[in-house]
Amino acid sequence: MKVAIYPGSFDPITCGHMDIIERASKLFDKLIVTVMVNQEKKPVFTAHERVALLHKSTSQFKNIEITHFDGLLAEYAREKNAATIIKGLRAVSDFEYEFQMALVNRKLNPDLDTVFLMTSEKYMYLSSRVVKAVGIYGGDLSEFVPLEIVKDVTEKLFTGRMENGRRN
Ligand code: PNS
Repeated sequence: MKVAIYPGSFDPITCGHMDIIERASKLFDKLIVTVMVNQEKKPVFTAHERVALLHKSTSQFKNIEITHFDGLLAEYAREKNAATIIKGLRAVSDFEYEFQMALVNRKLNPDLDTVFLMTSEKYMYLSSRVVKAVGIYGGDLSEFVPLEIVKDVTEKLFTGRMENGRRN
Protein backbone atom coordinates (compact mmCIF):
# COMPACT_ATOMS: atom_id res chain seq x y z
CA MET A 1 0.00 0.00 0.00
CA LYS A 2 1.44 3.39 -1.01
CA VAL A 3 1.21 5.79 1.91
CA ALA A 4 2.09 9.50 1.76
CA ILE A 5 2.18 12.23 4.40
CA TYR A 6 1.10 15.79 3.72
CA PRO A 7 2.48 17.82 6.65
CA GLY A 8 1.89 21.46 7.41
CA SER A 9 0.87 24.07 9.94
CA PHE A 10 -2.62 24.33 8.38
CA ASP A 11 -3.27 27.50 10.40
CA PRO A 12 -5.93 27.27 8.97
CA ILE A 13 -6.39 24.94 5.99
CA THR A 14 -6.99 26.92 2.76
CA CYS A 15 -8.50 26.11 -0.65
CA GLY A 16 -4.90 25.81 -1.86
CA HIS A 17 -4.24 23.02 0.66
CA MET A 18 -7.51 21.37 -0.42
CA ASP A 19 -6.32 21.40 -4.02
CA ILE A 20 -3.11 19.58 -3.02
CA ILE A 21 -5.04 17.10 -0.82
CA GLU A 22 -7.37 16.29 -3.72
CA ARG A 23 -4.47 15.73 -6.14
CA ALA A 24 -2.40 13.68 -3.69
CA SER A 25 -5.33 11.50 -2.60
CA LYS A 26 -5.64 10.31 -6.20
CA LEU A 27 -1.95 9.37 -6.40
CA PHE A 28 -1.67 7.34 -3.18
CA ASP A 29 -3.66 4.56 -1.51
CA LYS A 30 -3.60 6.48 1.75
CA LEU A 31 -2.83 10.13 2.49
CA ILE A 32 -2.04 11.16 6.06
CA VAL A 33 -2.61 14.88 6.52
CA THR A 34 -0.66 15.89 9.61
CA VAL A 35 -0.77 19.09 11.62
CA MET A 36 2.84 19.62 12.69
CA VAL A 37 4.85 22.21 14.58
CA ASN A 38 6.77 24.78 12.56
CA GLN A 39 9.28 26.28 14.99
CA GLU A 40 9.31 29.49 12.95
CA LYS A 41 5.58 30.19 13.30
CA LYS A 42 3.25 31.02 16.16
CA PRO A 43 -0.15 29.55 15.25
CA VAL A 44 -3.44 31.39 15.81
CA PHE A 45 -5.54 28.21 15.83
CA THR A 46 -4.77 25.51 18.42
CA ALA A 47 -3.63 22.12 17.15
CA HIS A 48 -6.99 20.72 18.21
CA GLU A 49 -8.85 23.41 16.21
CA ARG A 50 -6.67 22.86 13.13
CA VAL A 51 -7.33 19.11 13.24
CA ALA A 52 -11.09 19.73 13.61
CA LEU A 53 -11.07 22.12 10.61
CA LEU A 54 -9.22 19.53 8.53
CA HIS A 55 -11.76 16.85 9.48
CA LYS A 56 -14.65 19.11 8.55
CA SER A 57 -13.07 20.04 5.20
CA THR A 58 -12.07 16.56 4.04
CA SER A 59 -14.96 14.27 4.98
CA GLN A 60 -15.60 13.54 1.28
CA PHE A 61 -12.22 11.78 0.88
CA LYS A 62 -12.25 8.13 1.87
CA ASN A 63 -8.48 7.46 1.89
CA ILE A 64 -7.42 10.28 4.19
CA GLU A 65 -6.34 10.20 7.81
CA ILE A 66 -5.97 13.42 9.80
CA THR A 67 -3.38 13.45 12.57
CA HIS A 68 -1.35 15.76 14.77
CA PHE A 69 2.32 15.21 15.64
CA ASP A 70 4.87 17.28 17.55
CA GLY A 71 8.24 15.89 16.53
CA LEU A 72 10.41 15.14 13.54
CA LEU A 73 8.59 14.53 10.28
CA ALA A 74 11.21 12.01 9.17
CA GLU A 75 10.60 9.91 12.30
CA TYR A 76 6.85 10.18 12.00
CA ALA A 77 6.96 9.00 8.38
CA ARG A 78 8.87 5.90 9.49
CA GLU A 79 6.33 5.26 12.26
CA LYS A 80 3.47 5.55 9.76
CA ASN A 81 5.19 3.45 7.04
CA ALA A 82 5.02 6.38 4.65
CA ALA A 83 7.72 6.56 1.96
CA THR A 84 6.60 9.90 0.55
CA ILE A 85 6.15 13.44 1.83
CA ILE A 86 3.82 15.66 -0.18
CA LYS A 87 4.52 19.37 -0.43
CA GLY A 88 2.63 21.99 -2.40
CA LEU A 89 4.57 24.55 -4.42
CA ARG A 90 3.05 27.87 -5.37
CA ALA A 91 5.98 29.78 -6.78
CA VAL A 92 9.70 29.53 -7.33
CA SER A 93 10.12 31.46 -4.06
CA ASP A 94 8.78 28.42 -2.14
CA PHE A 95 11.35 26.15 -3.75
CA GLU A 96 14.63 26.96 -2.01
CA TYR A 97 13.21 26.44 1.48
CA GLU A 98 11.33 23.30 0.48
CA PHE A 99 14.37 21.87 -1.31
CA GLN A 100 16.42 22.26 1.87
CA MET A 101 13.68 20.63 3.98
CA ALA A 102 13.47 17.72 1.54
CA LEU A 103 17.22 17.10 1.75
CA VAL A 104 17.22 17.26 5.56
CA ASN A 105 14.30 14.86 5.75
CA ARG A 106 16.05 12.41 3.41
CA LYS A 107 19.22 12.70 5.47
CA LEU A 108 17.24 11.80 8.60
CA ASN A 109 15.34 9.02 6.84
CA PRO A 110 17.01 7.77 3.61
CA ASP A 111 13.88 5.82 2.63
CA LEU A 112 11.88 9.03 2.42
CA ASP A 113 11.27 11.06 -0.74
CA THR A 114 9.49 14.38 -1.11
CA VAL A 115 7.08 14.84 -3.99
CA PHE A 116 6.19 18.42 -4.93
CA LEU A 117 2.78 19.09 -6.40
CA MET A 118 2.13 22.34 -8.23
CA THR A 119 -0.84 24.22 -6.91
CA SER A 120 -3.58 25.22 -9.30
CA GLU A 121 -2.79 28.71 -10.66
CA LYS A 122 -6.02 30.07 -9.20
CA TYR A 123 -4.60 29.54 -5.70
CA MET A 124 -1.12 30.92 -6.30
CA TYR A 125 -1.82 34.02 -4.22
CA LEU A 126 -3.38 32.11 -1.35
CA SER A 127 -1.81 31.21 1.99
CA SER A 128 -2.93 30.76 5.60
CA ARG A 129 -1.30 34.14 6.27
CA VAL A 130 -3.60 35.79 3.68
CA VAL A 131 -6.64 34.10 5.24
CA LYS A 132 -5.71 35.49 8.67
CA ALA A 133 -4.96 38.95 7.31
CA VAL A 134 -8.41 39.17 5.65
CA GLY A 135 -10.40 37.26 8.28
CA ILE A 136 -9.27 39.34 11.22
CA TYR A 137 -11.09 42.34 9.69
CA GLY A 138 -14.20 40.30 8.92
CA GLY A 139 -13.46 40.03 5.18
CA ASP A 140 -15.24 37.41 3.07
CA LEU A 141 -13.30 34.13 3.26
CA SER A 142 -15.62 32.05 1.07
CA GLU A 143 -13.11 31.83 -1.78
CA PHE A 144 -10.15 31.30 0.53
CA VAL A 145 -11.12 28.40 2.79
CA PRO A 146 -13.45 25.40 2.25
CA LEU A 147 -17.11 26.41 2.56
CA GLU A 148 -17.65 23.98 5.45
CA ILE A 149 -15.32 26.02 7.67
CA VAL A 150 -15.88 29.64 6.56
CA LYS A 151 -18.06 30.35 9.61
CA ASP A 152 -15.69 28.70 12.10
CA VAL A 153 -12.63 30.47 10.73
CA THR A 154 -14.36 33.86 10.54
CA GLU A 155 -15.65 33.49 14.10
CA LYS A 156 -12.24 32.62 15.46
CA LEU A 157 -10.45 35.43 13.64
CA PHE A 158 -12.96 38.28 13.64
CA THR A 159 -15.10 37.61 16.68
CA GLY A 160 -12.02 36.58 18.64
CA ARG A 161 -10.40 39.89 17.81
CA MET A 162 -13.49 41.87 18.86
CA GLU A 163 -13.78 39.93 22.11
CA ASN A 164 -10.16 40.63 22.87
CA GLY A 165 -11.02 44.31 22.81
CA ARG A 166 -8.69 45.11 19.93
CA ARG A 167 -11.38 46.66 17.76
CA ASN A 168 -9.75 50.09 17.77
O1 PNS B 1 2.84 24.70 6.59
P1 PNS B 1 4.28 24.89 6.98
O2 PNS B 1 4.40 25.81 8.18
O3 PNS B 1 5.14 25.36 5.83
O4 PNS B 1 4.83 23.44 7.40
C1 PNS B 1 6.16 23.27 7.82
C2 PNS B 1 6.30 21.91 8.55
C3 PNS B 1 5.37 21.86 9.75
C4 PNS B 1 5.99 20.78 7.60
C5 PNS B 1 7.80 21.78 9.02
O5 PNS B 1 8.12 22.84 9.89
C6 PNS B 1 8.07 20.44 9.69
O6 PNS B 1 8.33 19.47 9.02
N1 PNS B 1 7.99 20.40 11.05
C7 PNS B 1 8.20 19.18 11.79
C8 PNS B 1 9.54 19.19 12.53
C9 PNS B 1 10.65 18.71 11.61
O7 PNS B 1 10.66 17.60 11.12
N2 PNS B 1 11.63 19.59 11.41
C10 PNS B 1 12.79 19.28 10.59
C11 PNS B 1 12.54 19.50 9.13
S1 PNS B 1 13.96 20.25 8.48
